Amino acid sequence: MKITNKKKILLTRIFPGIARELLENAGYFVSSSMQDAPLTKLELIRMSKSHDAIMCTLSDRIDSEFLTECAHLDIISQFAVGFDNIDLIKATELNIPVGYTPDVLSDATADLAFGLMIAVSRNMIYNYKRILNGEWKYFRPNSDLGIELKNKTLGIYGLGRIGFEMAKRCKGAFDMKILYNNRSRNQKAEDQLDARFVDFSTLLAESDIISVHAALNPETKSKFNKTAFDKMKPTALFINTARGGIHDEYDLIKAMEMNQFWGAGLDVTNPEPCKPDNPLLSMPNVVVLPHIGSATVEARSAMAKLAAENIIEFYEKGTVPNIINYEVISSIKR
Ligand code: DGY
Repeated sequence: MKITNKKKILLTRIFPGIARELLENAGYFVSSSMQDAPLTKLELIRMSKSHDAIMCTLSDRIDSEFLTECAHLDIISQFAVGFDNIDLIKATELNIPVGYTPDVLSDATADLAFGLMIAVSRNMIYNYKRILNGEWKYFRPNSDLGIELKNKTLGIYGLGRIGFEMAKRCKGAFDMKILYNNRSRNQKAEDQLDARFVDFSTLLAESDIISVHAALNPETKSKFNKTAFDKMKPTALFINTARGGIHDEYDLIKAMEMNQFWGAGLDVTNPEPCKPDNPLLSMPNVVVLPHIGSATVEARSAMAKLAAENIIEFYEKGTVPNIINYEVISSIKR
């Protein structure tokens, strides 16, 4: 059932070319923001008003105000696996399906979490900065010491697709024991990785590395705060590649200033972008990256493909292959 080939699709950013190519080949009229920066709220509303569907990113605020103004949208296709920028309750209330891009970025994000873990365990970025500062003078037998990862215990907070990939890497490379805390049990991880489900306090107390892979929601917001950091081992590493809102950044700064545990590796900060004067950036035991978990050629083009396919299949078949709010599909307006 081909409903129309004249739908107007707005790409709110410059996405990998495959997205535009697929949409244009399917016969849609595609326009794109020409700037490599987020649209302002007003621009986003103004441009969305003259389109039938949008492909957006986590920096677009798809909040209640936006949705009320743009209630005419047929579908919102998010170019991300996370969707905390979207008021899902409101979108569902308005019967607007919201697509997303799971799975295709799991390897890329897990690779980055794994890399951060190694970088923090060996203070790599700090030591690189020492060379830039002319501080590499001679071999020091008792300085620049890191810690080894072999046989350590990994604690995954949020064991979904990305958490599974991180656990798999840690098990394979370092024969780590895997603990996890999650909303529900992950049978695949228990069977294949011998992962053990534990409560949050046990995760904090027994893990040598804590890696965060949960979605940001009211339950996970600021979950890693002073109370949590106080329960971690003094030799522990804290890795967050999920959302900055899951840790309390002030409490993390305080903990790191006091060397309360070994170190932290962050691909996400709170707020984002991280300001250049954020104390975390100059700490020897912290590595910060600018939210690049999914930033590989492979993952980003697969995300663009999936996000475009979510729109195309919606118009052509009335289904969205990767949808967040399933409940709207049976009651979709056209
Ligand atoms: C996601 O997909 O949610 C990442 O954080 C950005 O690509």
